[in-house]
Amino acid sequence: MTRLKMGIIGVGGIAQGRHIPSFLDLKDKVELTAVQDVKEERAEEVAEAHQVPYVFKDYKDMFSKVDAVTICTPNKFHAEISIAALEAGVHVLCEKPMAITTEECEAMMKAAEKNDRLLSIAYHYRYTPEAQLAKKAILNNEIGDPLVTRVQAMRRRKVPGWGVFTNKDLQGGGSLIDFGCHLLDLALWLLDDPKPVEVMGRTYDRLSKTPGQVNDWGAFDHESFNVDDHVTSYITFENGESLQFECSWAANIKEDHTSLSISGVDGGLSVYPFELYQAKYGALLDSTAKIREGEPTPGLAQAENFIDSCLGNDELVVKTEQALKVTKLMEAIYQSSETGTSVKL
Ligand SMILES: NC(=O)c1ccc[n+]([C@@H]2O[C@H](COP(=O)([O-])OP(=O)(O)OC[C@H]3O[C@@H](n4cnc5c(N)ncnc54)[C@H](O)[C@@H]3O)[C@@H](O)[C@H]2O)c1
Repeated sequence: MTRLKMGIIGVGGIAQGRHIPSFLDLKDKVELTAVQDVKEERAEEVAEAHQVPYVFKDYKDMFSKVDAVTICTPNKFHAEISIAALEAGVHVLCEKPMAITTEECEAMMKAAEKNDRLLSIAYHYRYTPEAQLAKKAILNNEIGDPLVTRVQAMRRRKVPGWGVFTNKDLQGGGSLIDFGCHLLDLALWLLDDPKPVEVMGRTYDRLSKTPGQVNDWGAFDHESFNVDDHVTSYITFENGESLQFECSWAANIKEDHTSLSISGVDGGLSVYPFELYQAKYGALLDSTAKIREGEPTPGLAQAENFIDSCLGNDELVVKTEQALKVTKLMEAIYQSSETGTSVKL
């Protein structure tokens, strides 16, 4: 069987923690061929640890040696590097968010189409077993037409103190673009891509701008902190559905929690943990799920779907027009917060 030659651009936390282990687990389908990082030493170390044949100083030199690349740089470089790879005839799996702006996402999509290459975005929450169950339950009409969706992606005092997460120039935003985007993507996917029509948003940064914060995820500089640490939004859709959204890196709450629940006409569900709420046989009926051990991790399932799609044996789960919609919504939330009015899409 032909193995896909894979390159990785940016070999920091997510490359080493998720993508490389997944590619190593899928050795029969993918070969880790090349790495590149602006921190050359880091790329050399990763190559040595995993016997990667090629290390490049300039990512463009990688393209003649690989079939696909995984882009794990700060968000600012997602569009530029994706477009260069696609133009060179290389498939792209890009870390989330797709890019900082809608224009960048559209340019990436154009490059993929023009060069007939695959482009997907690493929205891996879709592959969590609970999300897979929720998708199946919705497709099986267990909740009827969805009406109201509630999302909370909440951490207590956990601003990422490493990397560039608190740098607006490099990341484009904070808790929303880093963490909230996953749950927005998941909600839209479960709801079968409804068309958003109006967005109200508020972003906050006061907690992290205040000196001397207790923070569980390392130290950060409160003076240079210039992104959001807490965001709320209310989104309405053309089909009448609505979504209540909240995310935070650093809320003053009892404990971290990630939740997504959907109330439909005939039933409702929660994703984390998976529960189904129905009215049947004259009673209120709740179902829970036993998630079986040994299921592939979301990172592995994501890697396998991308690799199989590149090899012509599967179809991408995360489509670019869906990832573009997430970026559009985040832009609208930021814009609404700045102007103090809702944004019509
Ligand atoms: N899917 C997820 O759950 C998840 C989790 C964490 C991070 N991410 C995303 O992954 C990306 C990277 O995050 P991270 O946590 O690995 O950050 P990181 O800082 O640990 O790693 C980023 C790496 O990119 C390198 N780099 C910076 N600019 C570069 C450039 N122009 N060309 C090549 N290399 C460059 C850095 O030297 C560093 O090694 C971000 O887009 C982030 O949003 C996704």
